[in-house]
Amino acid sequence: MIENKIKEDFPILNRTFGKNKIVYLDSAATYQKPRQVIGAISNYYENYNSNVHRGIYTLSEEATNLYKTAREKVATFIGATNSSEIIFTKGVTESLNRIAFSFLAQYVTKGDEIIVVEADHHSNIVPWQIVAEKTGAKLVVLPVDANGEIDLKIVKRLLSDKVKFIALSHTSNVLGTIFPVKEICKLARKMGILVSVDGAQAVPHLQVDVSSLGCDFYSFSGHKMLGPMGIGVLWAKKELLEKMLPYEYGGGMIKTVDFKESTWDDIPSRFEAGTPNVEGAVGLAAAISYLEEIGMANIQAHEEELTAYALTELAKISKLSILGPLDAKKRCGLVSFVIAGIHSHDIASVLSDLGICVRSGQHCTMPLHVKLCISSSTRASFYIYNDKKDVNLLIDGIKKAKEILG
Ligand code: ALA
Repeated sequence: MIENKIKEDFPILNRTFGKNKIVYLDSAATYQKPRQVIGAISNYYENYNSNVHRGIYTLSEEATNLYKTAREKVATFIGATNSSEIIFTKGVTESLNRIAFSFLAQYVTKGDEIIVVEADHHSNIVPWQIVAEKTGAKLVVLPVDANGEIDLKIVKRLLSDKVKFIALSHTSNVLGTIFPVKEICKLARKMGILVSVDGAQAVPHLQVDVSSLGCDFYSFSGHKMLGPMGIGVLWAKKELLEKMLPYEYGGGMIKTVDFKESTWDDIPSRFEAGTPNVEGAVGLAAAISYLEEIGMANIQAHEEELTAYALTELAKISKLSILGPLDAKKRCGLVSFVIAGIHSHDIASVLSDLGICVRSGQHCTMPLHVKLCISSSTRASFYIYNDKKDVNLLIDGIKKAKEILG
């Protein structure tokens, strides 16, 4: 297990609520930031702040260089072959919308099929649904089984010449399941079907390598990997980005402007109109350095151990049902559960009184909750700054909530 001194890097973990020190178990919503990331952002503003790609003076050249280096760092981190394949966005929601409206809406036509997963986050369902509505394509829903896993036999059954695109997440934000992305990409590739992967909940946990996964698009958010909010990534193969339409128009993305016609810069600038989020890119690069120093394999092992422990302890609580696979090896570091007869918001509220932060509700997965016949669930998500003591406090808190509310 990763050493407890990691906690010392996260100033917010010193906060208290009444007598209770914070126990932060809502990383799947957003991760806390280490001093190294906060420091990199302050350093940027204290020493480098200037607009990028625009100034012929040293400060602007330095800022431009930091922005460029951040893009290269992201590319290396996810195994992209070329940093020009990295488009900075606000986050996964923007990345997926860009794929939907700047690419897919032009790519599919009436009668084509788009596959989505029933367990997925609304942001990985709704954009594709709107594209289907606009183009006459059909949205086909890939179910998950009772364990919250994808059955490859069902995937094979759904694939046909009509399917043009599959959108799925790498890991579920509610079930925690790591989906068989590589296997699905392999099946899709044989049939010329494109695959877009939402990696929001995977990039902080697994060593992601887009080349070996074999997908066509991969999206993730900086704030879900210790970086700042407002910066995200869309990676796509160069040949697909070349076919993609700009999403916003303005400064920084043009080659020529004329009142008759304007032309667009090369990728990635073509997709980054206006002043970019340099602070976000710098913070994201610092987050990657921090993760690399710990090592993604160590992070995964730590989370697996913590999740296995949480699954064992939660299973001992009567009337509590765990959502998703019970094997920690099949999951990322989050566990959602329901307690018969108690609403998730009430559990979260009692836990909050104890300083414990969890998420309750439907976690932007309404169709999944409908399928599971539950109105809501409570989710605890763990990261490198959590330890078994935090899990024990969660378990004690849930028992207390049951006493009070049961
Ligand atoms: N998508 C984030 C979550 O699952 C906000 O909590």
